[in-house]
Amino acid sequence: MPEAPLLPSDTPEIPDLDSYLVQSHDERARTRYTTALLNHSMLNLRYGVWDAYKVDTGPRIERTFGRPAKSGKEIYQNIKTNTFFRTYSSIRYNAQEMGAHGVIDAIERGAPAVNAAVKRHAAATDRCGSLRLNSGMKYPHYLTGMDAHLSPGGYWTERHEGDVSQALLFQVRRLSGPIGNSARDFAGVGASIATYLKRRYPDFRPRRILDMGTQEGKQLYSYGQVFPEAELHGLDIAAPSLRYGHHQAARAGIPIHFSQQNAEHVDYPDGYFDLIVSSFFLHEISVPATKRVIAESYRLLAPGGIMAHMELPPSKSCSPLQNFTFDWDSRFNNEPHYAHFRSQDYAALCKSAGFPAKNTFEITVPNLGSVTPDDYESFMRGEKDAPFHGLGGWFIFGGIK
Ligand SMILES: C[S@@+](CC[C@H](N)C(=O)[O-])C[C@H]1O[C@@H](n2cnc3c(N)ncnc32)[C@H](O)[C@@H]1O
Repeated sequence: MPEAPLLPSDTPEIPDLDSYLVQSHDERARTRYTTALLNHSMLNLRYGVWDAYKVDTGPRIERTFGRPAKSGKEIYQNIKTNTFFRTYSSIRYNAQEMGAHGVIDAIERGAPAVNAAVKRHAAATDRCGSLRLNSGMKYPHYLTGMDAHLSPGGYWTERHEGDVSQALLFQVRRLSGPIGNSARDFAGVGASIATYLKRRYPDFRPRRILDMGTQEGKQLYSYGQVFPEAELHGLDIAAPSLRYGHHQAARAGIPIHFSQQNAEHVDYPDGYFDLIVSSFFLHEISVPATKRVIAESYRLLAPGGIMAHMELPPSKSCSPLQNFTFDWDSRFNNEPHYAHFRSQDYAALCKSAGFPAKNTFEITVPNLGSVTPDDYESFMRGEKDAPFHGLGGWFIFGGIK
């Protein structure tokens, strides 16, 4: 039997909610194994598929059509029976699914204690930032129609009234020790984008920053460090992550104003923010919804304000092989909007929301932890590109109002 969570004493100290997710020896071993397997499939086997393409599928397409593959879809159609590709897909799919399954029991066991802890410390956490929930939230079908990226219950499931426990599902990688991502900030996305914006626009001094699809608000910590005078706002549609985020941010002493809203229709007044950001968000919603979110971003920005969404690069800027690789998730990882999102023209999306054409941008910025200071300076001087998205760089697009 797993040990009961160590319940914090009734001191004013705010407990770390992750401490309530207690796995048995076997559950933990399973989590470490499935995380290692997932990393192996994504970091090694994925490029093994490229080799299979180069020696087998690519030449076959050339022999058949008298030209190289013209799209990611064409590569998929021709590689889908390749044994290496099938093995990779099967390993990656199952590692993803098993990762979540290995933690569900621990979440269900820990739910009563973690929810009680959030309630018990509400008076203390409410002194730092704020949490505004909407008990009548109507979740769109694109969220409820399937479990996003094979995570049972998605972002929004609540097991009890005031439930926070679903947010623990997304801590699964933290439990995996050195092979996980303990900071939960996806390798410094927020820090890299905030630093880039500050360097690129040295006179830019945002008074209020909004992170859409903020989940637990982790990226905002870095925006707060880079722009210490700004008020930080995190918006998400799902309550569990917001409750979790509010508690953990207060524990860290970072005042963030969390609110439960659909980013398609936001209740802040026109021009309320100077900087609107998001990361790993837009590809999770339907294409019509992305249009509404960009239109809302425009409305919510003050004149001169900046919108910067971190996303996957659009298919038009990638090779057929890169598109085939990125769009794997659309077919096999319960992210059905991924490929449709990437097929859009991001600049046109911004223009149709109202951003002047000359003020839109698409750029890959260096991930701070991946490039040397010299390379960073070369990038800022326009002498060197950032590494490709996900391999040391982060793609962002947006506009200045
Ligand atoms: C992949 S997570 C975002 C991760 C987070 N931005 C980060 O960088 O750590 C996607 C988030 O979008 C939220 N979401 C999905 N649809 C939404 C909508 N229409 N409005 C607001 N948030 C939404 C989900 O609840 C989830 O928390």
